[in-house]
Amino acid sequence: MVVTSLDNIEAVRVAALAELESIETLEGLERWRVSHVGRNGDLTKLLRGLGSLDPESRREMGAAGNRVKALFEERLSVKEEVLKRALLYASVDDSIDVTLPGWPIPGGRLHPTTRMVRDLCGAFVSMGFQIMEGPEVEWDRYNFEALNIPRDHPARDMWNTLWVNYADEREGRPMLLRTHTSPMQARIMEKTSPPIRVVVPGKCYRYEATDATHEWHFVQIEGLAVDRGITFSDLKGTLYEFARRTFGEERRVRFRCDYFPFVEPGVDMSVDCFACDGGGCRVCSNTGWIEILGAGMVHPRVLEGVGYDPSIYTGFAFGLGVERIAMLKHGIEDIRSFYSNDVRFLQQT
Ligand code: DAH
Repeated sequence: MVVTSLDNIEAVRVAALAELESIETLEGLERWRVSHVGRNGDLTKLLRGLGSLDPESRREMGAAGNRVKALFEERLSVKEEVLKRALLYASVDDSIDVTLPGWPIPGGRLHPTTRMVRDLCGAFVSMGFQIMEGPEVEWDRYNFEALNIPRDHPARDMWNTLWVNYADEREGRPMLLRTHTSPMQARIMEKTSPPIRVVVPGKCYRYEATDATHEWHFVQIEGLAVDRGITFSDLKGTLYEFARRTFGEERRVRFRCDYFPFVEPGVDMSVDCFACDGGGCRVCSNTGWIEILGAGMVHPRVLEGVGYDPSIYTGFAFGLGVERIAMLKHGIEDIRSFYSNDVRFLQQT
C-alpha cells in the first residue's frame, strides 16, 4: 500500500518525467501512460489513497496530485505529436528532398484583346456609359437595314459579309456573322427610350483576306448616346476625353469627314502618330496620323426606324477597332499575332 504524501507525489512526478524524456516510440509512450496516468498507474493509486486522509491533507494533496496529473496529460500529448512527426519524416525516403520548392503551376493571364476591351470600356463607363452585349450571329435587318443600308445598296460593299445558311419565317432574310457592332444600336433603341448612353464590345466577322492589318474576325466597341439636344460638340468632347485617357495628355486628335450610311455627318478620328509624334514614319504611312475610329451623328432614318422622333431626339455614335488600338499602344505590328495562339506573344502582356 503506497502512502499518499507530498513527497511521494513529487517522487512520481520527477521519475515519470525523466522516463518520458527517454521514450522514443509510440508503444513506449503508451506503456508510460498506463503506468502513470492509467487506471492502475502510480499517480492514480496515490490519488486513490486520498480518501484515508484527514480533510485538510486531502485538500492539499488532492490539489498537488491533480496538478501533476494535468501536467502528465499535457506532456503526454506533446510527446505524442513529436513522435508522430519524427515517424513521418523517418518514413520519407532519403532520395526525396522535401525542402525542395514544388513545380511552378503555370499562371494564366488575360488575352491582350480582353484587357484592351476592359480598359477602353472602363474609360467610357467612367463617363457615364453602360456596357451591353449582343448576338454575333445577326439578322440582315439589324446589321444593314436598320442602319440605313438597304438591300442591294452599294454601301453594303463597305463590309465583306459571311452569310449563314439559315432563314427565318418571321424575319424572312438570311442571317450573317455581324460585320460590326453597330446593329446593337437599333436593338437597344427598340427596347429602351432615351436617354441612352451605351458601349457595346464584341466580336465581328468579315469575309476578308488577312494581312498585317486585316483579320477575318476582330473586336469592336460601339458607342451610342441619344437624348434631347445632343450635338456634335458632345461627340467631340466625349471622344477627345476618351483619347486623352487612353493615349495620354500629349496626343493630339483630329476629326475628318467620312461616310457611313447610319450617321450624318460622319467622321473618322485619328490620333497623331505615337512613333514619330506626327512627323511621318512607317507606322503611320508617313501621314503623321493614325485612324482609330468612325463616328457621327445618328442618321434621322435610323432614329425613325426604331420609332424615335428625330425632331426631338438626336444622338451620336462611334465604332472603334480594339486590336487596332492595342497595336498602337503596344507597338504590335501584325494583327494576326492576336489570334495565332503563339504563347510567346500572349505571355508578353
Ligand atoms: N460600324 C463601322 C464599321 O465597322 C464603324 C462605325 C462608324 C460605327 C461610324 C459607328 C459610326 O457607330 O458612327 O466600319
